[in-house]
Amino acid sequence: MKSSFLMTPGPTQVPSQVSLAMAQEIIHHRVPAFGALLKDITEKLQYVFQTQNDVLVFPGAGTGAMEGAIVNFFSPGDKVAFGIIGEFGSRWAKIAEIFGLQPIRLGGEWGKAVTAQDIDLLLSSEAGKGVKGVFITHNETSTGVYSDLKSIGEVCKKHNVLYLVDAVSSLVAIDCKTDLWGIDVVITASQKALMTPPGLCFFSVSKKGWEYNQEAKCPRYYWDLANALKSLKKASPENPYTPAVTLLFGLNEALNMIKQEGLENVFKRHLQLSKMFRTGVEALGLELMVKDEKIASPAVTSIMLPEGIEAGKISGFFRNNGIVIAGGQGQLKGKIIRVGHLGYVDAFDISNTLITLGRAFKSQGKALNTEAALKKAWEVYEHE
Ligand SMILES: Cc1ncc(COP(=O)(O)O)c(C=O)c1O
Repeated sequence: MKSSFLMTPGPTQVPSQVSLAMAQEIIHHRVPAFGALLKDITEKLQYVFQTQNDVLVFPGAGTGAMEGAIVNFFSPGDKVAFGIIGEFGSRWAKIAEIFGLQPIRLGGEWGKAVTAQDIDLLLSSEAGKGVKGVFITHNETSTGVYSDLKSIGEVCKKHNVLYLVDAVSSLVAIDCKTDLWGIDVVITASQKALMTPPGLCFFSVSKKGWEYNQEAKCPRYYWDLANALKSLKKASPENPYTPAVTLLFGLNEALNMIKQEGLENVFKRHLQLSKMFRTGVEALGLELMVKDEKIASPAVTSIMLPEGIEAGKISGFFRNNGIVIAGGQGQLKGKIIRVGHLGYVDAFDISNTLITLGRAFKSQGKALNTEAALKKAWEVYEHE
């Protein structure tokens, strides 16, 4: 029997405690027990979002939350700016366009970060006049680059624009101080560092976000956040429509695990494991796509494929050996492989992935020094 251990940038491994919590008998979503569960979950979500703002949960994929973050705060014709550093930033701008917004696309070079300075320059220019919102992908899953949310937050505050962040593959893996850094809207999904199966997505919304919401004319029904807030504020909190009760049981347990480990420790673990993995990859003699440590994601690492090595053969070898990794997306298809090290992951998983990398390349006629790579990787792990 073969396992299929997930070292992808999502969905990620689900801890057995979470799976067991989902095995319990279903409850109805209009009874007090559900209200108590939703209240409990909402408080824990505020802890992981590092916010006092309202946090809403919906059944849906991360892309649903991307759409929700457009239609709830803007109107057709609104000028908005997107920092685009890969596939997911491009997707968000495309959704904005579909709803009639006028997106200005900043950056565009995959593998590079969009900086606070880039945004400041735009918002101070003629082209940037009238921009109502700035959209940033915190962790660009397609490349393994992450954005400096704090400094971008200072620029958004200076120009008084709404600040929206896609934290789908970063929340809990990489620090996101929602309130302290002035982020008005943060979206995420269950299947990444939240260690829960796919199917839930989340929004945190600031006071300023709700003010924008009142003016926003984009059509919405399912994703109407104001309607969801009304249900959440009932004496016994509810969702407006049928919630994914079973997934919420699992999420509750995952949030307990995160609280128990402590958010700061969870961030540290992700950083330590990413350093361990990056060191191992380089010691194997492979090329990291993101060389600059300052923007290298603690959640996902992209590895350049040398001439003559096919991505499908490497990921196929992994699959046949019980581990699932990801290939490149969009313009990076066939050029890179991506390894996710977020959520329920430890040094043993990183070590196994490095061993399998060495074996996969060997199967393609390229011998790598796995022993040296493991030695260096474990040294970094122990010293971090
Ligand atoms: C940064 C980012 N945003 C959005 C999404 C979209 O999420 P979903 O696939 O759940 O629609 C993903 C998925 O990988 C992502 O990594």
